[in-house]
Amino acid sequence: MQLQRPDLLRDNNYINGQWQAAASGRRFPVENPANGEKLTEVADGGTADMDAAITAADAAQAAWQSETPKTRAQILQRWYQLIIEHRRDLAAILTAEQGKVLAEADAEIGYGASYVEWFSEEAKRIDGDILAAPSRDKRLLVIKQAIGVVAAITPWNFPNAMITRKAAPALAAGCCIVIKPAHETPLSALALAALADEAGFPAGVFNVVCGTQASDIGSVMTSSPLVRKLSFTGSTRVGKILMEQCAATVKKTSMELGGNAPFIVFDDADIDAAVAGALASKYRNAGQTCICSNRILVQDGIYDAFAARFAAEVQQFRLGDGRDSDATMGPLITRQACDKVTALVDDALSKGASAITGGRRASIGEHFFEPTVLRDATPAMRVFQEEIFGPVAPLFRFEDEQQAIALANDTNYGLAAYFYTQNLNRVWRVAEALEYGIIGINEGVTSSEMAPFGGMKESGIGREGSKYGIDDYVELKYLCLGGLDN
Ligand code: SIN
Repeated sequence: MQLQRPDLLRDNNYINGQWQAAASGRRFPVENPANGEKLTEVADGGTADMDAAITAADAAQAAWQSETPKTRAQILQRWYQLIIEHRRDLAAILTAEQGKVLAEADAEIGYGASYVEWFSEEAKRIDGDILAAPSRDKRLLVIKQAIGVVAAITPWNFPNAMITRKAAPALAAGCCIVIKPAHETPLSALALAALADEAGFPAGVFNVVCGTQASDIGSVMTSSPLVRKLSFTGSTRVGKILMEQCAATVKKTSMELGGNAPFIVFDDADIDAAVAGALASKYRNAGQTCICSNRILVQDGIYDAFAARFAAEVQQFRLGDGRDSDATMGPLITRQACDKVTALVDDALSKGASAITGGRRASIGEHFFEPTVLRDATPAMRVFQEEIFGPVAPLFRFEDEQQAIALANDTNYGLAAYFYTQNLNRVWRVAEALEYGIIGINEGVTSSEMAPFGGMKESGIGREGSKYGIDDYVELKYLCLGGLDN
């Protein structure tokens, strides 16, 4: 890999301000999902390494927490500037290990950096409150204090931004952090650690432990009494296990879990805008985001027109290695991911759907699936209830608004939903009826550091980003000042 700063490509864990081999001495390969090429080997951290990271974070906690907000803000600002300065290298590393095309990787670095910038500013606004008192001899105050050491488990689909979205608010609030990135994409995490080191975070404040033994390492994070909060982005299945484990030490948790986003197109929608929105929301990262549209619900009157125009656009995607400048869509992360998408499509086809474009694995590599549009999908198909996490758009038909809302809410998930209409009364009715944490109205791209990201129902707990994002990393403390004589 050609980098301007080859030293951003790290292969050891970052614990207590030091680059450390795994205690076991083991290493694991990191591969490019586009072609299976081995990029490097990384220290295969285990329970001893995570334990050391937590101990270091705990030792650094008191001093970091008592730094002034301005000092924390300045170090975060430096980290932000370094990320922006080295965004080309960070994007190259991200594409090599994750597969998304370079333009998307570059956008992710900008998106990830925006959380660092935002929370560097928020660090100075973690304000308390003075409340009305019940009697004249008392004054009631509320202060916000860092919750303590934070553990973060981050996914492979956004190897940069899901780290900064957790680390930046934690660090701004005065928490030290230990991060376990997905073993498929450790290099982006280690590159961020290299820049955090350069930015000047004191030893122990920011730690990264990579490793293949995810459940063992996770158990150390969830069981340690030194860790006061766990933040996780990943599947609902794993999130539930982690929540159960955290119960033993009553940790605060933030859970960004799975989704099953409906994308509703009403007859009165601007059809071009709806096609553009569906493309953006469905095929970002080859369909591998928690907020990707999973079920496209289209009203009877425009179903055929929408299907034809949408499929024509989907045919324009060019699959390829993310480093290839012609490619507009990369591979899926693993062969198993491709197997799952294949099984979901086969299930839909066997129950009466038809593929108007795509519909099978691509011939260019075993991790590639053709960008697909399925017509005549029905709720009896697995794609109605299961998160696809691939470039497949099933189109469902509905008759009226009531039916659209019922179909949209007929799921245990509640992360993101989208709908297109030009009727203002319908905008409010539908927005209020949808049981989702994030709603795109005539808009397929909702993510921003300035907005709260998070879901309802089994899609999670807590919000990341925005002015609300710091709340997950602080404790409210109530001070009752009594004995006053006025
Ligand atoms: C995710 O898929 O978990 C994150 C997507 C986003 O932040 O836009």
